[in-house]
Amino acid sequence: MSFEGRDILTTEDLSKEDLLHIMKVTAQMEELVKKQRISDLLKDKLVAVIFLEPSTRTRLSFETAINRLGARPITVADAGSSSAKKGESLADMGKTVAGYVDCIVIRQPQTGGAKIIADAVEIPVINGGDGSGQHPTQALLDLYTIQKEEGGLEGLKVAMVGDLKYGRTVHSLSYALAPFNPQYIYCAPDELRMPDRITSDMEDRGITVDSTARIEDALQADIIYMTRIQQERFKDPAEYERLKGSYVLNRELVEKGKKGIAIMHPLPRVDEISTDVDVLPNAAYFRQAHNGVYLRMALLALVMGRA
Ligand code: CP
Repeated sequence: MSFEGRDILTTEDLSKEDLLHIMKVTAQMEELVKKQRISDLLKDKLVAVIFLEPSTRTRLSFETAINRLGARPITVADAGSSSAKKGESLADMGKTVAGYVDCIVIRQPQTGGAKIIADAVEIPVINGGDGSGQHPTQALLDLYTIQKEEGGLEGLKVAMVGDLKYGRTVHSLSYALAPFNPQYIYCAPDELRMPDRITSDMEDRGITVDSTARIEDALQADIIYMTRIQQERFKDPAEYERLKGSYVLNRELVEKGKKGIAIMHPLPRVDEISTDVDVLPNAAYFRQAHNGVYLRMALLALVMGRA
């Protein structure tokens, strides 16, 4: 199986074999980091890390991954410091940067924006989050985390809670887990339901999807995946004010749920999980964030033909 030159734009086009291969290479990267910290696998490569929206985890874990593989990052960490601010198109930016580096990682606010760049360039493009569209590298690190926390990926009941309309991580996760016979509980206020297209796609694949607005229903799953209400996507600030704080997972609620339920969150959190949950052994969200380095190392090595 070769990933060389492939773009990672969405989880919709990844087969079960692709996903398992990515998990295997991610485990190898974890071992590599634990044994030797830094490798020279990509020592002749440069990677552009262009973030036109805020990020802590995705940008810094990509930069960590790049450095751990011996490659070098060139970084845009602020939309205001690039010529996007002057109105340059994504395609023109991509064509320019592709002449400088071997791979582009891009986060920007337009759904489908990473694909615009990928269509304009020959080098691999990795989507670090495109508006309220997809966040494939997050979903893949979520898969890796689930595999480690649960001992496998098959047949799990997964509840996704919060802003399922604008939350790109849950869009990507729904597709990434789909080949592994999951059951889904989509838990959201009516205004923030999972887009119908995604729910229908899951049902067409034979996946049982239960939709609810009650977090108590979500607590009976094997995994509860909390998400932030995405303030930056709301056109009406009053609607955000009304919906923020819809779900807060606290210790009392966790104790009413399935014993040992794995608690995940892509982070950043605002107040969706109270800090008294952090000490529970099944609170997996910081381990989840740390797994991002291994997964992103794997993707970089794969798309640059070195895995
Ligand atoms: N989970 C995630 O994408 O976090 P950042 O926005 O900090 O990158």
